[in-house]
Amino acid sequence: MASIDVRTHSPDRSPIAISNFSKERYVSSEWMATETATIWAKSWLVAGVSCDLRNPGQFITFDIGTQSVIVARGGDGHLRAMHNACTHRGTRLVTESAGTLRKFVCPYHAWVYGLDGALESVPGAARFSNGVPKSDLALRPVEVEEALGLVFVRLEPDGPSLAEFLGPLLEMVGTYWIDLMDVTNDQTVSHLCNWKAIIDNFAELYHVPFLHPIHRRMFECATAPISLFDHGHTAVYVEGGVTDSGFPTADVPSDMQAMQLKAFGLDPVDFHGRVSEIRPALQAAKRALADSQGLDYACFSDAQLTDVWQFNLFPNVILSVTPESAWLMRSRPDPGDPGKSMLDMITLVRFHGEESREASADSDDRIGTHFRLNGPRPVDYVRPVRDVFTHEDILAGRKTMTVTIDEDISLLGRVQQGMASRGFEAVWLSDEECRVQHFHDALESSMGLGN
Ligand code: FES
Ligand SMILES: [Fe+2]
Repeated sequence: MASIDVRTHSPDRSPIAISNFSKERYVSSEWMATETATIWAKSWLVAGVSCDLRNPGQFITFDIGTQSVIVARGGDGHLRAMHNACTHRGTRLVTESAGTLRKFVCPYHAWVYGLDGALESVPGAARFSNGVPKSDLALRPVEVEEALGLVFVRLEPDGPSLAEFLGPLLEMVGTYWIDLMDVTNDQTVSHLCNWKAIIDNFAELYHVPFLHPIHRRMFECATAPISLFDHGHTAVYVEGGVTDSGFPTADVPSDMQAMQLKAFGLDPVDFHGRVSEIRPALQAAKRALADSQGLDYACFSDAQLTDVWQFNLFPNVILSVTPESAWLMRSRPDPGDPGKSMLDMITLVRFHGEESREASADSDDRIGTHFRLNGPRPVDYVRPVRDVFTHEDILAGRKTMTVTIDEDISLLGRVQQGMASRGFEAVWLSDEECRVQHFHDALESSMGLGN
C-alpha cells in the first residue's frame, strides 16, 4: 500500500491557516483574464485519458477557455500535442472530442497535416508568392506527457516537470492502474457557476450529509482523513460499507449496506446488531472473490477494497479511485463568462480477462461500480461518444450524472447567484474546508499573487 502523505490528518483542525478570500475570483472578468494568462497557460492540465490514445492514429481534443489542443498518437507510436489551429488562416482543425484519423485536413482550404503536426500538402502552393515554407507552418507544438493513465499538456513549457508536479500522487494513484481501464461513460455539462465553485464543492465533505442524504447510508464522511500536497493537490479517504458516524447508527444495515452485502453474496440479516462488522466483511468477501477469479488485488490494502480515495489534482481535476473504477471530473472555464463553466465526467472501468462473449449486464448503479468485481470487457463494449448537455437537462430530469452530482449541479447555480449579491463579500471557511483553502492558496501563488 502506498504511504499516505505525512500531512494526513482528521478534518477537525486545519494544518494551514484559514485566511479566507474575497468573492472577486468568482465573478470578475479581470481575475478570469489573469487566470487565462497564468493558471491555464502554465499548469500541467489533464487533457484526457491514456486509453483513448493507445493506438497510432487515435487523437483527442482538449478545449480550455479560448484555447484548443489536439493530442495524437503518431504512426511512429509517439504521443504529440499541438495547437488546434490551422497555420493558414487559423481555422480550428478538429471539432470531435476523440477519434481515429490518418491526417488532419483543414475544412477551409484543405491544408493537410500529419498526426505529428507536420504540414504535408497545400492546394495551389505555387500561387503563394511568399512560398509555403512547410517546416515553418507545422501545427504549433504543445508540451505533453502521460502519467497515472492520464494525458497532461502544458501550453507554456516552463516550470516543474510533471513528476515533480505530481510528487507522491504518482505512487498513491499509480496503484490503481488507471492506464489499464476503459471509458464507459463520457459526459460534459455546461452550467452556471465559476469553474472554481465546482472544485470547492469537491474539496469538502461538510455539505455532504445535508445535500446528499444517500451518503449517510453508505459512507463515513464525518471523520474522513485528508491530505494536503505541494502544488495545491489534496486528497480525502472516505470509508465505504459504513454509515456516517455523524448520525445515529442503526441496529440493522442501511438499504445501501444491504445492497452492497448482497452484491457479494452476504445476507444482510446476518448483520442485524453487527452493523460495525459490515465493512470488514465486505473487504474479506471482495478479497476472496478476487482470489477465486485470479485477480491480482495484492497491491490493494483492505481499506482500499471498500473505501474511495479522492484526489484533487491542481488546478481543475477531481479523481475518485477504487480498484475497479475511476471517476475523472474536470472543471473548465467558459471562454468568456466567469459565471459559467463546464464539468466533464469520465467513468473508467478496469475489465479483467479475455473479452467476454456475453453482452454487458445491467446492474444497480446505486451501489456503485465499487461493490462488484468487473469481469472481462463485454463483446458489445464500445467507447461511448461524449454526451454534451446543459444543467437544464439535469434539472428537467432528461440527463443524469449520478444522483450526487445532479444534486451538486442543481445547487451550484444558486451559489453563483448569491456571490453576485451586494450582501456577499467574502467566503468564511471552516477548518473542515481546509482543502478549499489549500487550493486557493495554490491558485494565488500560481497567479503570482503571493500568500
Ligand atoms: S484556414 Fe486552414 S486551410 Fe485555410
Ligand atoms: Fe456534493
